[in-house]
Amino acid sequence: MNIMNVDYDGLIPNNVNLNGDPRVKAALEKWHPGYLDWWKDMGPDGFQESLVYLRTAVSVDPKGWAKFDYVKMPDYKWGILLAPQGEERKIPFGAHAGEKAWQEVPGEYRAMLRRLIVIQGDTEPASVEQQRFLGKTAPSLYDMRNLFQVNVEEGRHLWAMVYLLQKYFGADGREEAEALLQRRSGDLDTPRMLGAFNEETPDWLSFFMFTFFTDRDGKMQLEALAQSGFDPLSRTTRFMLTEEAHHMFVGETGVGRTIERTCQEMQKAGIEDPYDINAVRKLGVIDLPTIQKKANLHFSLTLDLFGNEISTNAANAFHAGIKGRYREDKLDDDHKLEASTYPVTRFKDGRIVTEEVPALSALNMRLRDDYVADCQGGVSRWNKVIEKYNIGFQLKLPHVAFHRHIGEFSSIKTDVDGKVVDDSAWEKKKDEVLPSSGDKDYIESLMSPQFEPGKFASWIVPPKVGIDNKPGDFEYVKIA
Ligand SMILES: [Fe+2]
Ligand SMILES: [Fe+2]
Repeated sequence: MNIMNVDYDGLIPNNVNLNGDPRVKAALEKWHPGYLDWWKDMGPDGFQESLVYLRTAVSVDPKGWAKFDYVKMPDYKWGILLAPQGEERKIPFGAHAGEKAWQEVPGEYRAMLRRLIVIQGDTEPASVEQQRFLGKTAPSLYDMRNLFQVNVEEGRHLWAMVYLLQKYFGADGREEAEALLQRRSGDLDTPRMLGAFNEETPDWLSFFMFTFFTDRDGKMQLEALAQSGFDPLSRTTRFMLTEEAHHMFVGETGVGRTIERTCQEMQKAGIEDPYDINAVRKLGVIDLPTIQKKANLHFSLTLDLFGNEISTNAANAFHAGIKGRYREDKLDDDHKLEASTYPVTRFKDGRIVTEEVPALSALNMRLRDDYVADCQGGVSRWNKVIEKYNIGFQLKLPHVAFHRHIGEFSSIKTDVDGKVVDDSAWEKKKDEVLPSSGDKDYIESLMSPQFEPGKFASWIVPPKVGIDNKPGDFEYVKIA
């Protein structure tokens, strides 16, 4: 079969010749009903019978892989799609650099690989669970469609990881695949594995911030796994990245459109001081300082996902050739890192300092640095919107030590500039740097749905172009 095209004949669309692999096919078909039950229980609340204008992957050709059409979400074609196998791909880094990439799991790295795949897999359904009530308050049908697109694709990403578990990890892989359907975001007894995926996503600004900041962590992790010497993992994650780009687009443009509406309304009303919060809120838009606080929250929660700055696990995974650096194949060094160092920001003797440490143990820090740079690009584009309206305000990423729960800074409190503060100073200032309950209430008060085609809630401007180039009044969701 042609790897570029997807076989839609069976129950599970795929480009991995599932028909020629009866054992895995049977395992996936057994898992399928449980997945659908999970989707019905924990996927978007309501709207399951609505027709949503979604893209479905019909190929893995980067030039044209998606087809748009109206679909009921439970009928979405969740499939198994791997990027084409590169000819003679070599392991790009670590102790095995230059050897042929593995097509089977190397026995000595089995446990490590399984754990990485399970952790990645766990984040995918978690975000669907976090976002399940947002449809009801969608600011437009356009935004509602984007939410559901993100949701069905996160569902597909779960399929992607489950395929790897079922195909390469035998009985314990099947057990893990089952457990991925059992954990629940925010559940006290069986929570999802990572902190940020147990937080609430109660409103649309949170959703946009989440897709901007937290899906971008997903991108960085997938980029690192796309370099893997275990070829099936590399190929799976490479295709996931093409879908992931849309999630970050939803986040960046969502926040950008929110900012634009705020600036427009301030200009119309002749309000020059962005800190005149009461006056700005009277206009039915979200004031810029509150948008900054939301960014502070989501950025800091997401930084925790990178783990400890200095990490033996990360060193081992790199050395083994399992998890690389961001764009490893574009980096110009020995790809072994046994003799080099990397600067790490640490907390030592009551101060935040930068210290050179062995590069192998600093890989989490390095990936986080690449992440911060990637975030900064989007923040700068948001600031361009504010500049256009001549408003004296700039959004800014807080210091990496701010509001952390994992790693070097988890034991201290700092302000947004990274100045260490004591507990009482933190308590006094907290509501100035993180969303207060009043801020949350205000944002929630704006979340009234707008389901008329072409109409948008008060606090957000329409997008510049439609999805699939559709006109402004296109009915992206036909609500049942
Ligand atoms: Fe994902
Ligand atoms: Fe995503």
